[in-house]
Amino acid sequence: MIDPSYIEEILIPTDVLQARIAELGAQISRDYEGQDLMLIAVLKGSVLFMADLMRHITVPHSIDFMATSSYGAAFESSGVVRILKDLDTSIEDRNVLIVEDIIDTGRTLNYLLRILRARQPRSLEICALLDKRSRREVDVPVKYVGFEIPDKFVLGYGLDFVEKYRNLPYIAVLARKFYAPE
Ligand code: IMP
Ligand code: MG
Repeated sequence: MIDPSYIEEILIPTDVLQARIAELGAQISRDYEGQDLMLIAVLKGSVLFMADLMRHITVPHSIDFMATSSYGAAFESSGVVRILKDLDTSIEDRNVLIVEDIIDTGRTLNYLLRILRARQPRSLEICALLDKRSRREVDVPVKYVGFEIPDKFVLGYGLDFVEKYRNLPYIAVLARKFYAPE
């Protein structure tokens, strides 16, 4: 599926990934028991995580999607987010859980939180599969985190390297020569 020379190491193998997602689903199911719930995934990186996580959530819920693009330089998140695709439905008075692939500087989610808060949901929380905590520039309240990871470029399980390899069933670290050439 991928030329092995692209990969430095497999950071989170499939079985570990899936076991943790099942735990997150169980925890979310307990926390929202008896309540209305709406999951919002941010395209495109969160698609695989959303699909697996929702299969472990036992409370009835609806789903919706947003697509955003960040202004600014290609590899630096500017924190100013343009909405490319907005939600199809209103979130007013709903319990909203944002499903994200990864938090890096926190700028994207910080901006998204502000946009969504203005729409007056009953509650608004974040579930992120991966957290590069050492890179955080803006404090973002994340209720559910799958894995804390080191400051390395990762790909697979929804995350891309120049739009490819989202289909890998594990999280891998990109070989250093592709992002930090010596
Ligand atoms: P933030 O605004 O810096 O938190 O940007 C987070 C976004 O950057 C994520 O939603 C990803 O699209 C992207 N991103 C950050 N780190 C990585 C990575 O290691 N691999 C792939 N995409 C990443
Ligand atoms: Mg993303």
